[in-house]
Order: sequence, then C-alpha cells, then structure tokens
Amino acid sequence: MPGLIGIGVGPGDPELLTVKAVKAIHNADIIMCPASNEDRPSIALSVVSSVIDKSKNQEIVKLIFPMTKDKDVLKATWKKNAKIMAEKVLSGKNVVYLTVGDPYLYSTWIYMHRDLEENYPDMEISVIPGIVSIFTFAAKVGISIAEGSEKVAIIPSCYDLSSVKEIAKYSETMVFLKDGRYFDQVIKVLKESGFPDDSIFAIGQDLGTENEIIRKLTLGEVNDETLTTKYFSILVVKRV
Ligand SMILES: C[S@@+](CC[C@H](N)C(=O)[O-])C[C@H]1O[C@@H](n2cnc3c(N)ncnc32)[C@H](O)[C@@H]1O
Repeated sequence: MPGLIGIGVGPGDPELLTVKAVKAIHNADIIMCPASNEDRPSIALSVVSSVIDKSKNQEIVKLIFPMTKDKDVLKATWKKNAKIMAEKVLSGKNVVYLTVGDPYLYSTWIYMHRDLEENYPDMEISVIPGIVSIFTFAAKVGISIAEGSEKVAIIPSCYDLSSVKEIAKYSETMVFLKDGRYFDQVIKVLKESGFPDDSIFAIGQDLGTENEIIRKLTLGEVNDETLTTKYFSILVVKRV
C-alpha cells in the first residue's frame, strides 16, 4: 500500500544513515526534502545523495519552507507542503520525506505529520528515526550527555534568557541548538546560574561535513573566537 515515510537522515555523514533509511529511500517513487528557497540546496538531500540509485530516476521534490517566524506564513507553508505530499501519496506513490537528524526533534516533519493526520486520517504514515545531532556531537567530543541522576535541558535559539537562567539552575547539562550566532548570550547567564568555570564547554559546527569545527574547553576559557557563527551549530555545557 502506498504511503509516506518521514526519514531522519542523521547529522550529515552518510555513513550515519540507518539501514532502514537507505532501504526506504531505495523503495521510494518520490523523494521529498526541505529547503529554505528554490535556489538553496536541501541539506537533507545532500546527506543521502550518495545512496540514491540514479538509474532509478526517482522523482525529487524540494518543498520550500521560508526562514520566517511569521506564524501565518508558517502555517500556510505547512498546509501547502502537506497537501503536495498527500496528493502524491493518494495518487498511489510511495513518498519519503527527508529530514536532518531525527524527525521528532525541531523538524518541519512534525508540522507536516500533524496536518496530514488531521486532514488525511486514512493515509499510511510512518517514521524512521535518525541519529540526533546532539549524540553525534557527544560521540565526537567524548562527553556524556547525562549519567546517573543528571538532568539535561535542550534549548533552541531565540532564547528567553530569563527562563534559560532558571532552567540552568536545575540542570547538569545544557544543550543549545539552532543558531550559533546566539551562543554568546548564554555564557553570562550560565555563570550567573552557578555553572562553575571548570564546566565543560563544547561547541560544534557543520558536524559530519568537510567544514566541521569542534572545540572543547571550559566555561572559564571561552572567548569570542571560541564561538561559532553559523546556524548549524551545537553547544553543550556540562557541570563536572
Ligand atoms: C531544525 S534543528 C534540527 C535538529 C535535528 N532534527 C536533530 O535531530 O538533530 C537544526 C539544528 O540542529 C543542530 N544540528 C543538526 N545537524 C547538525 C550538524 N550536522 N552540525 C551541527 N549542528 C547540527 C543545529 O543546532 C541546527 O541549528
């Protein structure tokens, strides 16, 4: 029966694709992927490009998700793209939708899935998990994200710094995702929340790509040059 599969393609290294993801990509009639505009490449698609069998001539559809915080524009975009997916599945095609990392962590998939479940309740939809950027990073720098009774907080960009300060008081590990350009704002807040200077401060950018940057130091050692400047960045700060 034709259906839709949301696939987590992992953090960027094609060797971190799951066997199940590769099989689903091979079996698809149509491969869909997100991009921020027509002229920009889809990062999720680039991760799987080496496993796509070109002789199959699978249709590739780039779904456009503009980088905006305007709720109305976002909702209209999710609706439009969910409809494009639904029409292909209902016409009898096997469709896969690729997403970076795992589909259920800050992914456009979440909104598509919700819309499809609501408006096309009979559609066959499944999800293949992917390796999350946080754990790829942990493996590369050799830090545990949590052990024993430690608590972890995951914070996306555009921080509400007052809530970060409160959360930091009760967490042993703080993980910051989505946009390295904001990381400088949290250093002071973490110190004020009682994170000591010897806390691990590990920062990564473009993991799994040839532009990968990884730095591991302590909170007390951080300076402007330590920080990353790009959206595809991750910061882990951990009490020792
Ligand atoms: C929209 S979220 C998607 C998270 C993704 N679903 C996951 O499971 O990791 C995008 C953010 O994830 C992090 N990220 C994902 N892949 C990354 C990579 N290869 N290198 C660095 N950060 C990455 C960055 O913080 C980026 O801004």
